[in-house]
Amino acid sequence: MNVPEEILLRTKDLEWVDKSLEGLSHKMLWRDEETGASIALVRFQQGAGIPSRHEHASNQFMYCLRGRYTYVPTGLTLTEGSFYWNPKGSAHGPTHADEESVLLEIYDGPHYPVQPSWYTNPDDAR
Ligand SMILES: [Fe+2]
Repeated sequence: MNVPEEILLRTKDLEWVDKSLEGLSHKMLWRDEETGASIALVRFQQGAGIPSRHEHASNQFMYCLRGRYTYVPTGLTLTEGSFYWNPKGSAHGPTHADEESVLLEIYDGPHYPVQPSWYTNPDDAR
């Protein structure tokens, strides 16, 4: 079996890639194409957010590097150093970035059961 070598990404050297939701961009750091699991930096501009209540098809974890990112119905606000865990299948959102926010986002499997309506590009839902 071919064993891959270790990999180092310097995230400051990566470009932010805009997603098909206004005000959201990301830097994909790692993805397992077989399971759909991934690790990415995501950035919401101030005032942006996920517009609808929704569920994920896997566990979602977020670590806030900077900003203020709020889950509107519950009033949960992630700030620098916050760790958020959203169990698979639990409904949440909409969300709102009270300030520009950068989060390390981890999914342990596929992101969504179906492509969410707020993405026009199916690649943005994975
Ligand atoms: Fe979500």
